[in-house]
Amino acid sequence: MKIEVDYLEFMWPMRHFLITCGDIEGKSNIIAVSFCMPVAKEPPLIACAIGKDFYSSKLIEDTKEFIVNVPSKELKKEIYYCGFHSGYQVDKFKETALTKKPAVKVKVPIIDECIAYMECKVTQKIITGDKNLFIGEVIEAKADEDIVKGERKIEYAKGDFPRKVYATRFNKK
Ligand SMILES: Cc1cc2nc3c(=O)[nH]c(=O)nc-3n(C[C@H](O)[C@H](O)[C@H](O)COP(=O)(O)O)c2cc1C
Repeated sequence: MKIEVDYLEFMWPMRHFLITCGDIEGKSNIIAVSFCMPVAKEPPLIACAIGKDFYSSKLIEDTKEFIVNVPSKELKKEIYYCGFHSGYQVDKFKETALTKKPAVKVKVPIIDECIAYMECKVTQKIITGDKNLFIGEVIEAKADEDIVKGERKIEYAKGDFPRKVYATRFNKK
């Protein structure tokens, strides 16, 4: 017998990413995102779904750029901080002490502690219910050399999507 479930429950576990946005010289922000995936090889495209009212959506709409930073599981505390606080209220770079560094081709900062990053220019925004689905063309991608060469092993940050944040209509009784 099968019983009714929250549809998201069986999409888990998901990888966690830290998306940076804004301008390194001005206001910048970090958001924890799991709704993030490649959607084309040529051109190289990534899609990420971000709450329409979130500070990150506003910054990405303003600058048309974002960076997908890839954290290892050691950054769990910082991921959760960035996933439960809004850039409208706090400076997440300051509060997490994550290091802001310049990217190569966009004004958005990278997070130095992450093992890899993809610089993206927004090519499309699709409104998908409560989210903006930003499609970004990857114009630069870099990763720590020792990881690329297989000299250091890491575990990616992944896990259950926090129910507190993502209870859908299916489990709201
Ligand atoms: C592990 C994790 C994954 C998350 N994934 C997403 C996501 O894919 N899309 C989204 O809109 N919010 C996601 N969130 C929630 C946002 O990170 C959160 O609402 C954040 O406070 C928004 O920040 P901002 O207002 O600074 O943009 C996630 C939270 C956590 C903890």
